[in-house]
Amino acid sequence: MSADGTRPRVFVARRIPDAGLDPIVEACSADVWEDELPPPREELLRRVAGCDGVLTLLTDRVDDAFLDAAGPGLRVVSNYAVGYDNVDVPACTGRGIPVGNTPGVLTETTADLAWALLMAAGRRVAEGDRYVRAGRWRTWGPQLLLGSDVHGATLGIVGLGRIGQAVARRAAGFGMTVLYWSRSRAEPGIEREFGATFIELDELLARSDFVTLHVSLNDETRHLIDAAALARMKPSAVLVNTARGPVVDQAALAEALRDRTIAAAGLDVTDPEPIASDDPLLQLENCLVVPHIASASYATRGKMAEMAAANLLAGLRGERLPNPVNPEVYRD
Ligand code: DGY
Repeated sequence: MSADGTRPRVFVARRIPDAGLDPIVEACSADVWEDELPPPREELLRRVAGCDGVLTLLTDRVDDAFLDAAGPGLRVVSNYAVGYDNVDVPACTGRGIPVGNTPGVLTETTADLAWALLMAAGRRVAEGDRYVRAGRWRTWGPQLLLGSDVHGATLGIVGLGRIGQAVARRAAGFGMTVLYWSRSRAEPGIEREFGATFIELDELLARSDFVTLHVSLNDETRHLIDAAALARMKPSAVLVNTARGPVVDQAALAEALRDRTIAAAGLDVTDPEPIASDDPLLQLENCLVVPHIASASYATRGKMAEMAAANLLAGLRGERLPNPVNPEVYRD
């Protein structure tokens, strides 16, 4: 695989499921980071030095300093995620390095978790569980832990890409009205298929009972949901974020939840990750937070590993990655 016939050197930034790790270890001289926590920055830069390929996670920043540390032999960056906001893609493209991701396989699993959060936040499931465990359940109460109906409600989807569409499809089973906003409007066929009506973001925020975020993180979407956006939402509304933490201004969200200008939030992602244990959000009963687990099913994480390995190995062979995020790297 290497020009001199030796096995290519790769750094794998965490132990991924065997479905992906086995083929990598078989074909490469692989340095696998075994800790549960990501490699500290200095260690990361040290370990990638002289590598032909790297398999990174969303916790590993791939920027000019990383690429410099890896050196001129680096031929591929394979990111074990569909999102790649941790990677400076133009910097990789500028050096002719293809970057791979894992689209498609985690769509349905992520949509499942968005729904779990939507329903749990709307119906106060985590709060109810805490209530029972604290020994506070004394009787059936006519006004105990009242929440919002999901069936028949209006769902606002921000970003109607693959995951947004999968969320919309599930809404049909609950007889919901589906509104969406996306940077570019979807084809009429897609709107028909998912029964989704395009409206401007401000209107979506004002009309939705549940707002769910499915945009990627970039300069345009950072703090897309800020104090002004939150102020447009109904006091009974629930916000769900399975996209990226910085899409929401977290301090503004804590204020909105504390002042009850919105009813609840269900978050899979925070800013930063992990969320600080003294973050105001964690003091609030109406905020449900889980640790970035939207794609965390056995099957999906296995498929992501296979895809990440396929990208890595293709790049090492000098072939086009099955899923490049910078296909422009292949143009002359
Ligand atoms: C992704 O893939 O971008 C998710 O956030 C983690 O699976």
